[in-house]
Amino acid sequence: MHEKKYKWYKIADALRELQFGENNILQIEVGGKKICVVKTLNGIAACAAKCPHAGGNMSEGFLDKNGNIVCPVHRYAFNFNNGRDVTGEGYYLKIYPVEIKEAGIFLGIEEGGLFSWLK
Ligand code: FES
Repeated sequence: MHEKKYKWYKIADALRELQFGENNILQIEVGGKKICVVKTLNGIAACAAKCPHAGGNMSEGFLDKNGNIVCPVHRYAFNFNNGRDVTGEGYYLKIYPVEIKEAGIFLGIEEGGLFSWLK
């Protein structure tokens, strides 16, 4: 398997700049994609803002006690490690890597060029 290539976008200079909602979720737009940045039990994570089940807005969801993000519409919960729904229904929420560095907070989006799947 080939390593994924990411394009990294700076989303803030520092954590305090990220204005999380009461649900610890902040929706932003990066590289033309709507993304939720989430303050989890283990730090900062990011996922697609659109639920893979029926398009619910994950930014209006919440975190369960295990740190999974729960969609507000039908309450499917997704794990930040692999994006799978925790009840095993086979839904997959896109997860984006986040890196906190001295220079700021960066979010990675896979480079999906025309030839990326040929390599
Ligand atoms: S739309 Fe998200 S669980 Fe159904």
